[in-house]
Amino acid sequence: MDITSDNNRFIGQAATWISGCSHLVVSTGAGVSQESGIPTFRDAGTGLWASYDPMQLASVQGFSQDPKLVWEWYAWRRNKVYEARPNPGHLALARLESLVSRMTLVTQNVDGLHRRAGSGSPIELHGNITRVKCFGGCGEMHENWSDEKYKGEIPPRCNSCGSLLRPDVVWFGEQLPEKALHDAFHVAENCDVILVVGTSGTVQPAASLPVVAQRGGARFIEVNPQPGAFAEPADILLTGKSGEILPLLVAEVERLGKGSKT
Ligand code: OAD
Ligand code: ZN
Repeated sequence: MDITSDNNRFIGQAATWISGCSHLVVSTGAGVSQESGIPTFRDAGTGLWASYDPMQLASVQGFSQDPKLVWEWYAWRRNKVYEARPNPGHLALARLESLVSRMTLVTQNVDGLHRRAGSGSPIELHGNITRVKCFGGCGEMHENWSDEKYKGEIPPRCNSCGSLLRPDVVWFGEQLPEKALHDAFHVAENCDVILVVGTSGTVQPAASLPVVAQRGGARFIEVNPQPGAFAEPADILLTGKSGEILPLLVAEVERLGKGSKT
């Protein structure tokens, strides 16, 4: 484990800010699920977008051109998600919720692992891969889709209107779910600490969350093996994997909390 003494000092400072704050926002990206075996998008060599074309696989146009290819690619990713387990990073964030006065978790991830780790109600900015919905827009939706149980044509068709079904994730060029977007920016504007974990900070609007938080006076703490491409650098960068850093950080927040009660 590569936790430097600098990191230890910064973990102490970050934990002090977190334990003393009135509203903590945590914003996560693909990096937080990397240690659960779910590939990120942009890590050199291993990121999904190094081997796959996002416009072919993650756009309305791509789905219209070859719906079977796109459906099968998501079925493959969905299977990885069902096989994965929350890692110590997800679990630490779920624990953190009970240690601070108020915490809101916002994620770009579609894997649902925060919820499976015990986090209450994460704001899912980019949808959820385990849910499928009608491509025709009639509103039909299925939770916890099982590719194993389904035996019909691919992609399946909507029971209500006969259109194709598609994964309920946000594709390039699509709007984010309105309520999730509104709620995420509202909490970012009003928090006093934002903890950003495992995101490259290249996809908008999620990349702007720490920017608006800082503009509102919040401290910005980043956990990442490599700093993200945010408009403003973090006040504290904790360099390393979230599955290693977050348990240490949360243990320190817990220690500080116990100290204040004795
Ligand atoms: P990226 O793949 O762009 O970035 C992953 C980040 O995780 C990088 O900054 C890595 O350094 C970091 N990382 C890798 N391993 C890590 C670990 N073990 N612990 C902590 N951090 C680690 O993923 P996102 O920023 O989440 O959108 O990508 C944003 C959006 O782009 C995704 O939601 C997806 C994609 O296109 C849609 O599908 C709409
Ligand atoms: Zn329909």
